[in-house]
Amino acid sequence: MRGKIQPGSSVLLLGTGGVSLFALQFAKTARAIIVSSSDKKLERVKALGADEGINYRKVPEWDQRVLKLTDGQGADLVLESLGGSTFAKSVNAAALNGTIFVIGFVGGAEVSMPVLPIMQKMLNIVGNNTGSTSDLREAVRAIEAATIHPQIDRIFDFADKQKAYHYLETAGHVGKVVINLNN
Ligand SMILES: NC(=O)c1ccc[n+]([C@@H]2O[C@H](COP(=O)([O-])OP(=O)(O)OC[C@H]3O[C@@H](n4cnc5c(N)ncnc54)[C@H](OP(=O)(O)O)[C@@H]3O)[C@@H](O)[C@H]2O)c1
Repeated sequence: MRGKIQPGSSVLLLGTGGVSLFALQFAKTARAIIVSSSDKKLERVKALGADEGINYRKVPEWDQRVLKLTDGQGADLVLESLGGSTFAKSVNAAALNGTIFVIGFVGGAEVSMPVLPIMQKMLNIVGNNTGSTSDLREAVRAIEAATIHPQIDRIFDFADKQKAYHYLETAGHVGKVVINLNN
């Protein structure tokens, strides 16, 4: 809602982790572009509805590729789940008057970059901290209406919680890594 996404908008998602894949499912009416370290993962997310995939290991200048894929316009919404390592490229990949959701810091919690492109593009930089209870109600309603099933990569028992965190750190997953509190 805050990204003002409509059919025909483009959305850029960084990585194939839990946040990106839930956003992909919400972004279905828009054109979703996703970057990942792995061609195999990109094939999997295309099967889930991603329109374009860019391997950031093979294409380190993925911001330029996003511009090319959007006829020079850039993405209307960028979900910035990486932070320091990608922020400047996310700004380059964003459209004029586009929105960057600042969600996470998998790639570092500090950002250093020129302010000029943010000004020139008149970007909306929006901090995100989970949202309100009423946002959650709306999200649950949308999930029900669109029969969205979360992409769960693997479920660990509570006793194996350390293994779950280790698995998450190695980033072999696509979607959510879950710890079952009942087992
Ligand atoms: N603000 C909030 O309300 C909120 C809510 C939930 C989570 N978060 C935060 O959001 C962040 C992401 O959470 P998550 O659960 O999605 O984490 P995650 O499942 O660990 O996903 C992170 C993904 O980042 C990708 N990645 C790593 N280096 C990259 C690079 N250089 N360029 C592009 N992509 C790269 C990897 O994708 P590939 O494996 O495909 O390469 C990895 O799977 C975390 O910092 C978390 O704390 C914030």
